[in-house]
Amino acid sequence: MATTKPMIITLSFIIFFFILLNSQRSDLNPDCSNRWIHIRNLPTQFNLDLLSSCSHFPLFTDFCPYLTNHGLGPKTHNHSHSWFRTDPFMLELIFHRRMLDYPCLTSDPSAASAVFLPYYAALDSLRFLYGPDLNSSSHHGLTLFQFLQTHHSKIWDSRHGHDHFLVMARPAWDFSQPISIHQPPIWGTSFLELPEFYNITVLTLESRTWPWQEQAVPYPTSFHPPNTAFFDSWVSRVRRSRRTTLMLFAGGGGISASPNVRRSIRLECDNNSTNLRIRNGSSGYSKLCEFVDCSYGICEHDPIRFMRPMLKSSFCLQPPGDTPTRRSTFDSIVAGCIPVFFEDQSAKSQYGWHLPEEQYGEFSVFIPKEDVVFKGLRVLDVLMSIPRGEVRRMRDKVLEMMPRVMYRKHGSSLALKNKKDAFDIAVEGTLQRIKSRLKEVGMK
Ligand SMILES: *[C@@H]1O[C@H](CO)[C@@H](O)[C@H](O)[C@H]1NC(C)=O
Ligand SMILES: *[C@@H]1O[C@H](CO)[C@@H](O)[C@H](O)[C@H]1NC(C)=O
Ligand SMILES: *[C@@H]1O[C@H](CO)[C@@H](O)[C@H](O)[C@H]1NC(C)=O
Ligand SMILES: *[C@@H]1O[C@H](CO)[C@@H](O)[C@H](O)[C@H]1NC(C)=O
Ligand SMILES: *[C@@H]1O[C@H](CO)[C@@H](O)[C@H](O)[C@H]1NC(C)=O
Ligand SMILES: *[C@@H]1O[C@H](CO)[C@@H](O)[C@H](O)[C@H]1NC(C)=O
Repeated sequence: MATTKPMIITLSFIIFFFILLNSQRSDLNPDCSNRWIHIRNLPTQFNLDLLSSCSHFPLFTDFCPYLTNHGLGPKTHNHSHSWFRTDPFMLELIFHRRMLDYPCLTSDPSAASAVFLPYYAALDSLRFLYGPDLNSSSHHGLTLFQFLQTHHSKIWDSRHGHDHFLVMARPAWDFSQPISIHQPPIWGTSFLELPEFYNITVLTLESRTWPWQEQAVPYPTSFHPPNTAFFDSWVSRVRRSRRTTLMLFAGGGGISASPNVRRSIRLECDNNSTNLRIRNGSSGYSKLCEFVDCSYGICEHDPIRFMRPMLKSSFCLQPPGDTPTRRSTFDSIVAGCIPVFFEDQSAKSQYGWHLPEEQYGEFSVFIPKEDVVFKGLRVLDVLMSIPRGEVRRMRDKVLEMMPRVMYRKHGSSLALKNKKDAFDIAVEGTLQRIKSRLKEVGMK
C-alpha cells in the first residue's frame, strides 16, 4: 500500500513529461535572443525514479505527501487556490515544472545560451546523507558526470560545462564535504567539491561563506497564486491586516543554557514585564512580543500556524539556528512582516539576485547578534524606537519585494506571468552568470 501513491505520482509525472518533451520547441519569439535554454534529457534515474524512495529515509522525513502538485504539496484546505503545504526541499521539482513553462526552450543545445540539468540532486543525496551510501558520499554526482561524458558528450564538451546549471534544494554546506578526508564523512556529500562540477552553476537554498559555483535562491513558501486575482486579494489582505503585535518569533530552539541569540529572544519574550510596558504607552500595540513555538518541526507543513500571527505583527525576528538562513524569512515577507536579521549570512550575503543588498535598509532591520547576546541590547527597545511612519514605509517596501521571493503556481495566468517571481529572477541571474563566466574563460 505504502508505495502505490508515489507510483501514481511518478506515473502522472512521466505522462506529463512525455507530452512536454514532444513539444519542447516554443514559438519563435524575438524576446528570446540570448535566453534560449535547452533542457537536457536525463534518464529517469536522475529525477523521477528518486520520487519513489520518498519514504525510505525515516531519519529525514517521509516526504511522499509533498510531491503532489509538482512539488507544491497538497493544498492547505479543499477550497484553497494559492496555499499549499509546501516542503522547501521540493524546490527541485517545483523548478523543473516551472522550467517547462519557460517561454524560450529549445531542443537544439547548440542554439541555447544555457543547458538545464533536471537532476534532483538533493533528493539523490538522501541515500548518502541518511541512507546506505553514507560511506561513499564523495561519489555523489559521479554517475551524472559519467552520463554527460558518454551520451551526446558534445553538449558538455562544447563549453566544458560552463553553460550548465542545476538546482540543489538544500544548503550548499550539505554538499561541501572535502573529498577523501573523512570516511565516513562528518556530514554531507562532496558534490560541490568535485572538480568535475566546478564549471557549472548551482542554485541552492543557502550558499557557503565564499560561494563559488553556487548561488542562493529563496526557500519556497506556501504561497503559490495561480493568477492576479488571487495574488491581488492576498496583497490587499496583507495591507489591511491590523498589526497589533510589535514583534514575533516563529521557530524553535533557544532553550539551551549557553548564550545565543535565540535564547536572548526567548528570555525577552517570556519576560512578564515586557508586555506590561505597553499598558500605559501610546504604541498602538496590544502585545509587544509573540512566540510561535515551532519545535519538533510542527510548523513545517502547517503554514496557518505561523502565517496568521505573522499577519498581525509588524516585525518578524529571523535569528540564525542550525544554519544562518531560514525559510521563515520568506514567509514573513509574504505576510508583510518586516524581517529583523541578526547576521548578514542570514540573507544579505545570500540572496543578492532576489533581494538587492543596497535595499536591505529599506525593508529590513539589522541588529548585530553580539550586541544582543553579550551587550544586553534589547531587540524590543530597538524596534520600539522606530517611528510608526518609518514602519509603514518599510512594510510598503516589503510588499514591493514580495513577488520577487514567491514562486507562483506553474501554468499561471498570463497577467501574473508579467510579474517577475523568484523563478524568473533565478533564471535571469543564471543566464547572466553563465554569460559572464563564458566571457571570462574566453568562450562564446
Ligand atoms: C476535502 O475533499 C475530500 C474529497 O472531495 C473530502 O473527502 C474531504 O472530507 C474534504 N476535506 C475537508 C476538510 O473538507
Ligand atoms: C561506514 O563505515 C563504517 C566504518 O568504516 C562502518 O562502521 C559503517 O557501518 C559503514 N556504514 C554504512 C552505512 O555502510
Ligand atoms: C572546466 O573548464 C576548463 C576551462 O575553462 C576546462 O579546462 C576543464 O576541463 C573544465 N572541466 C570539466 C570537468 O569539463
Ligand atoms: C511570568 O508569569 C507567569 C504566570 O503569570 C509565571 O508562571 C512566570 O514564572 C513568570 N515569569 C517570570 C520570568 O517572572
Ligand atoms: C525583564 O524586563 C525588566 C523591565 O523591562 C528588566 O529590568 C529585566 O532585566 C528583564 N528580565 C530579563 C530576565 O530579561
Ligand atoms: C503607568 O502610568 C502610571 C502613571 O503615569 C504609573 O504610576 C504606572 O506605574 C505605570 N504602569 C506601568 C506598568 O508602567
